Amino acid sequence: MSGHNIAPDIGEVIQLGQHRFTWTEDHIDRATLQKLQSEYDVLGNSALERLQETQLEIGQKDLFTTLRDNYASDDTLSAFWTETHTVPEWVDWAQIDRGQRFFYKHMAANFVGFALQGFMGENTTTGSTAEVLVRTGGFSTRVLLRRLLETFQWLLQVTKDIDGIKPGGEGHTATIRVRLLHASVRHRMMKLAASKNGYFDMQKHGVPINSADSMHSIATFGCNPIWLQLPRLGITPTSQEAEDYMALFRYVGYVIGTPHEPFSSAAKGKACMESIEMILYPTDKSKVLGHNFIECLRNIPPLNLSRPFIEAGTRVINGEDHGKLIGISKPGLLSYCQFYGLCFILRGMTLVQKFSPRFENYLVAVSILTAYIETSWADLSKAIQGLDLHHHRGESFSCFWTWGSQRLLHEVGTKTWIFHCWRKCDQSDGSKTSVH
Ligand code: HEM
Repeated sequence: MSGHNIAPDIGEVIQLGQHRFTWTEDHIDRATLQKLQSEYDVLGNSALERLQETQLEIGQKDLFTTLRDNYASDDTLSAFWTETHTVPEWVDWAQIDRGQRFFYKHMAANFVGFALQGFMGENTTTGSTAEVLVRTGGFSTRVLLRRLLETFQWLLQVTKDIDGIKPGGEGHTATIRVRLLHASVRHRMMKLAASKNGYFDMQKHGVPINSADSMHSIATFGCNPIWLQLPRLGITPTSQEAEDYMALFRYVGYVIGTPHEPFSSAAKGKACMESIEMILYPTDKSKVLGHNFIECLRNIPPLNLSRPFIEAGTRVINGEDHGKLIGISKPGLLSYCQFYGLCFILRGMTLVQKFSPRFENYLVAVSILTAYIETSWADLSKAIQGLDLHHHRGESFSCFWTWGSQRLLHEVGTKTWIFHCWRKCDQSDGSKTSVH
């Protein structure tokens, strides 16, 4: 690990890029994080091995189905099932429900933050994660686009509704699937690293998908929006919203097999995020990643954002130095103005929400609807993987709307899901967000 080269004292003020904070007892030192790089989800790996053996016997392909059908007759699988399906005593469903609502209250801002800070800012400078990702399919724009959409789809599944994240719900099952997918990637890579010299340097990068990297991912999903993303777009979440969102992602961390104690409060989560930010380091892949991320983001219909707009947004949200680091060009003033215009709109929407709960309910309902279309789009994109989105922009756009709306109508008809969401929004009192 390299990165920020200081060993801070308690009370020391640290300026990290655009983020300023004070080192506290909650912060995690570099040595502890280094130790966590050699730790991983052992139960997940053991369960994976048992599942693979069982699959050979019965010919089943899907890991989760094999788990569900066989856990009762196997000790390791049973331990894994019990762990993932036992709700810890610290879980407060009402708080997690509020955390989910927070995501939709700021859906547009969250998406911008997720893409420009989480994706462009964080992933490009996370050496160990990039080293794993490059060995599981490369950095081509098509692979990155699929990864982005799959991850966003999962994010929608865990935030969609409270029943979805409870044991047996859609988001809960999706999270267990991801845990098993991680275990399978880790298992394969560890085996290859042991047998093939130079395949993956575990001394340098730690175990693939280790505990430190996993904590970093949970921080990226649960902490960065609160302290690194929304504030840079002009939105300052309240402390209650920070606690609620943290509670949601602490629970996700628990289900996915990541140390979750560092996320047991907003203060600890923030400290964990900052500690990890201190040790991030770019690699020779950072520039390639930065370039390909932009190609991938500008390929997403229906927005099909321009390259200079994404470059301006990336530089505003992550800082000009970061832009230089990952080698993206400096766009003209117009692109900056366009991005600041977007920030102005997002900020304005937050202000109106503050004074009009009705508008907020409306926005949450529309966001859930949009999320649903996006989820459908992710499914669709998997189905049309052969289609070059950049060169067939028009086709993919109309295809997207035709297919998305058909799918949506079907769902509205069968589940009256949107109506349910609307009612849920109306019933929720919703906490307030301040704008600075
Ligand atoms: C603990 C928090 C994490 C969460 C919530 C998370 C989430 C996800 C999601 C949603 C997917 C897509 C699953 C799908 O295909 O449907 C995924 C896949 C994957 N993740 Fe993670 N992830 C986390 C941590 C990590 C870390 C730390 C690494 C690596 C260092 C990693 C590496 C991967 C890889 C290699 C894949 C498979 C990508 C592929 O499709 O080729 N993940 N993860």
